[in-house]
Amino acid sequence: MKQVLFVPLLLLLPLLAFSADTKVYIVYFGEHSGEKALHEIEEDHHSYLFSVKKTEEEARASLLYSYKNIFNGFAASLTPEEAAKLSEKEEVVLVIESQPDKYSLQTTRSWEFSGVEETKAWSFVKNKGDNLLLKSKYGKDVIIGILDSGVWPESKSFSDEAMGPIPESWKGICQTGDNFTTKHCNRKIIGARYYLKGYQKFYGTLNRTLDYQSPRDKDGHGSHTASTAAGRVVPKVSALGGFAYGTASGGAPLARLAIYKVCWPIPKKGKEEGNTCTEIDMLAAMDDAVADGVHVISLSIGTQKPVAYDQDALAIGALHAAKKNIVVSCSAGNSGPSPATLSNPAPWVITVGASSLDRSFIAPVILGNGMKVEGQTVTPYKLKRKMYPLVHAAQVLDHSFDPKNSTAMQCLPGSLSPQKARGKIVFCLRGNGTRIGKGLEVKRVGAAGYILGNSPANGAELAVDCHVLPATAVTSEDAIKISKYINSTKNPTAYIVRAVTKLYSKPAPYMAAFTSRGPNVISPDILKPDITAPGLNILAAWTEGNSPTKLESDTRVVKYNILSGTSMSCPHVAGVAALLRAAHPSWSNAAIRSAIMTSAGLLNNEGRLITDASQITLADPFQYGSGHFRPELAADPGLVYDATHKDYLLFLCASGLKVVDPVYKCPKNPPATYNLNYPSLAIPNLNGTKIVKRTVTNVGGSKGVYFVRVNPPIGYSVKVFPPVLVFSHVGQQKSFTITVKANKKKAEKSGDYSFGWYTWTDGFHIVRSPMAVSSA
Ligand SMILES: *[C@@H]1O[C@H](CO)[C@@H](O)[C@H](O)[C@H]1NC(C)=O
Ligand SMILES: *[C@@H]1O[C@H](CO)[C@@H](O)[C@H](O)[C@H]1NC(C)=O
Ligand SMILES: *[C@@H]1O[C@H](CO)[C@@H](O)[C@H](O)[C@H]1NC(C)=O
Ligand SMILES: *[C@@H]1O[C@H](CO)[C@@H](O)[C@H](O)[C@H]1NC(C)=O
Ligand SMILES: *[C@@H]1O[C@H](CO)[C@@H](O)[C@H](O)[C@H]1NC(C)=O
Repeated sequence: MKQVLFVPLLLLLPLLAFSADTKVYIVYFGEHSGEKALHEIEEDHHSYLFSVKKTEEEARASLLYSYKNIFNGFAASLTPEEAAKLSEKEEVVLVIESQPDKYSLQTTRSWEFSGVEETKAWSFVKNKGDNLLLKSKYGKDVIIGILDSGVWPESKSFSDEAMGPIPESWKGICQTGDNFTTKHCNRKIIGARYYLKGYQKFYGTLNRTLDYQSPRDKDGHGSHTASTAAGRVVPKVSALGGFAYGTASGGAPLARLAIYKVCWPIPKKGKEEGNTCTEIDMLAAMDDAVADGVHVISLSIGTQKPVAYDQDALAIGALHAAKKNIVVSCSAGNSGPSPATLSNPAPWVITVGASSLDRSFIAPVILGNGMKVEGQTVTPYKLKRKMYPLVHAAQVLDHSFDPKNSTAMQCLPGSLSPQKARGKIVFCLRGNGTRIGKGLEVKRVGAAGYILGNSPANGAELAVDCHVLPATAVTSEDAIKISKYINSTKNPTAYIVRAVTKLYSKPAPYMAAFTSRGPNVISPDILKPDITAPGLNILAAWTEGNSPTKLESDTRVVKYNILSGTSMSCPHVAGVAALLRAAHPSWSNAAIRSAIMTSAGLLNNEGRLITDASQITLADPFQYGSGHFRPELAADPGLVYDATHKDYLLFLCASGLKVVDPVYKCPKNPPATYNLNYPSLAIPNLNGTKIVKRTVTNVGGSKGVYFVRVNPPIGYSVKVFPPVLVFSHVGQQKSFTITVKANKKKAEKSGDYSFGWYTWTDGFHIVRSPMAVSSA
């Protein structure tokens, strides 16, 4: 157990470890040759530290992690001066200052519960039956590493019933700790570890009533993502409130799981406020996961803002994983709807946006004038059958709350008056505070019910919640209707109907308002996100160590829960990557990503183009990348855009960054960054004409003739040459150029992107790539 080593060091030198002027740094040397034994690498790390610290003891005590399995580096407590000295050494590739709140899990700040879906979450995306599942043997023996908040091993989603022996390639361990023994690993959860040093460095010793000091999941998020990627098929699950009854299943139900717990509660914040994951802990987990032999890594973790690669330890870890042909699936982030908010922008990962499912939980509001407004919730509580007085939150404020405050409608804690609100239905707006927390405030003042209205930014996206009193949530448009009604009459009244589950709701999918968006400000030549997958109101396994809302006062315990976020869409793609890895063991990680991207769909279940959360405005590739994933079609993509680790190194050379391998010499003229063989294309600030090169590899039938079709972005002309590609065997590669020219007259105003497509098709396969172009 790693912590046993660490804790005594802290105890020996507490003053040093927490001294005010030291910070946490990652000192990174890049690849290692593998010639040195692990303990020799660690000794090297000590000598580097000794070269800047006064004493040997100080040097030893300052070391937090030695990274030595796959790459060479360490994390240590250093003063800025010591860090600067180390960064001057020739062998040091990078020094990154680690910050406590840089990375977090990518759920929206709301934690919900519901019954189990009646149809698989995947139903409407599996457009051609279960061929991929069969062909991949349900992801049999592919190992998915999950970096998250741990796992609840007792969940039926993690049963190993009838699973074969653990793959021989597996080199990981089952680390024990609080309420977690080796018997909690099985043939499903084949490995589990936890990483605390970075967390404890910033937040002090873990409070073991807030979380388990072990791979066990107190939060719930880690169990949710792990079961989404690779949970077993669990039939006949019913749940609190009885909303639904049916089957839950992960994407690759027979894949194996390796759990790396890297996210921990922030002390003194409510549990519903979420977790923190430090980069030094995550880097240690990545180093282990790659060495342990995972095939896919699911990372529902990101930064709030875009971060450059040489400051993004997660990107560096992912590049080492990519070298070992591991597919790394990452969430795009929940900082939408603002543009340029995307996290995890690197071209060696799959960046996943979030969209809705075709399932809703209808709970309408009946207004006193007879009007019925549609709402959604998974709240199990019911009002008495009568009309209730309806008020704006701003009409029932506590006398201490300034009615002019812009948050007067937001039902923030302590803002409402029990005298004024008792027995009424209170209408609140989204904005600051959690959706669940607003409900708690409405309940605190003795109100009968709660209606949560979207602000315009949330549009028609309804993330459902398991509120603590009768409640429902309404779209921005409906919020205005309700507000108008309240203003129109002296004694407004309302009734909230209890929710029922509705399947095949339309339109679906639409993009979630919260999903982070392009353009990619770190690598403007790489279009991101890559893909969208379900991330709104996703049902999956939950912890029994926490309530479904995570509110302190909530004592309910559930086995399954509904969450929203790009955290939920990322493991969907990790699950599909595992199926593809099993079905096509010879494919590279870039080929797997290409297959998922070029086969994606653009239409919703009404046969129209996918919209944003307004359900009116069309969404674009800065929200969904190549479109909505279609796992069945990804199994047979026809052509793939392949890329190797060396291509990524050349990409970094051309970006002016040399962040990985000190031995690798950048060529004088590396290929331009836009010529990285990526399945999509972004051209920022086009001035005149640009010619981009791509190469496709035939993975369809042995013979194939592909024709190109182009939908140029408005304001540009696009020519692809040659327009026909003839393949005579599997694995054959053909290159082509894409010439993009700004039209003199019609070019968009500078900086505005317009979007288009180019598509190769042999009449059966459709290999589509989005393009985003802006003019100088
Ligand atoms: C964890 O273990 C302790 C001690 O064995 C026990 O009291 C507690 O109930 C366990 N908690 C859970 C959630 O299993
Ligand atoms: C640990 O957390 C619990 C629950 O929030 C709290 O009551 C307790 O005071 C905390 N302990 C320490 C040492 O902070
Ligand atoms: C508005 O209310 C919030 C919540 O009580 C408070 O944090 C904020 O400071 C207030 N703003 C102003 C301008 O008074
Ligand atoms: C949230 O609160 C801050 C500070 O009170 C305020 O500036 C901001 O406008 C609020 N956001 C929303 C969406 O109401
Ligand atoms: C209703 O009245 C309130 C308070 O006067 C105001 O803030 C709100 O904008 C009104 N609603 C509509 C839809 O006009």
